[in-house]
Amino acid sequence: MARGLFLTFEGIDGCGKTTQLALLSERLREAGHDVLETVEPGGTDAGRAIRGILLDPRHHALSARTELLLYFASRAQNVTEVISPALQRGATVLCDRFTDSTIVYQGAGRGLDEATILELHRIACGSIFPDLTILLDVDAETSLARARSRNRETGSEETRMDDEDGAFFARVREGYLRLAAREPKRIRVVDARGPVDVVAQNVWEEVNALV
Ligand SMILES: Nc1ncnc2c1ncn2[C@@H]1O[C@H](COP(=O)(O)OP(=O)(O)OP(=O)(O)O)[C@@H](O)[C@H]1O
Ligand SMILES: [Mg+2]
Repeated sequence: MARGLFLTFEGIDGCGKTTQLALLSERLREAGHDVLETVEPGGTDAGRAIRGILLDPRHHALSARTELLLYFASRAQNVTEVISPALQRGATVLCDRFTDSTIVYQGAGRGLDEATILELHRIACGSIFPDLTILLDVDAETSLARARSRNRETGSEETRMDDEDGAFFARVREGYLRLAAREPKRIRVVDARGPVDVVAQNVWEEVNALV
């Protein structure tokens, strides 16, 4: 059986990744695809425990290297336990964030170089790399407003946000766009400013060309 397709969603916090991943999953299932949804960090029991460490404000002093290794520890387990077996059985795998997030956030935020990150990717994930990446692109202000309103609604503490976030998000957004410019075939930039259903249609058009 042919290996399934591996699709990832990327973009700054609050751009709409989780929303669009769920809609795409529904649409692919309706079209008869075997779909597996997962998330990074997270995706496995161990991965969720690691995610807990990364997001816990008590650990805000984690060193950049510790943080990097934890992201890849979660990803290694997800690849071994979930992503690889699903691709083997021919499923379409949708992953909410993957190594591009590490390249852009740890690069822009922590100044870690990309070669180191890619080397760790090889150790953690082997040859597993997305066939298609949807980069949901939106300005930092809109994204921050969406993330804040979601956190208010859900009472979530998941995303740590403060006053510096506008500038940080803008840097991360630029990092993503640079990555997309380098890999235009794999990374498809989708305008995420419009209403949810319009964005979903644009995502679908990118994905439909492949599935
Ligand atoms: N196109 C859109 N227009 C308006 N609101 C949106 C749109 N897409 C998502 N939202 C809302 O914005 C909030 C953030 O969306 P979502 O949680 O999907 O973003 P995310 O990229 O997964 O964020 P994070 O990086 O924090 O996980 C949610 O409340 C969601 O309902
Ligand atoms: Mg999300």
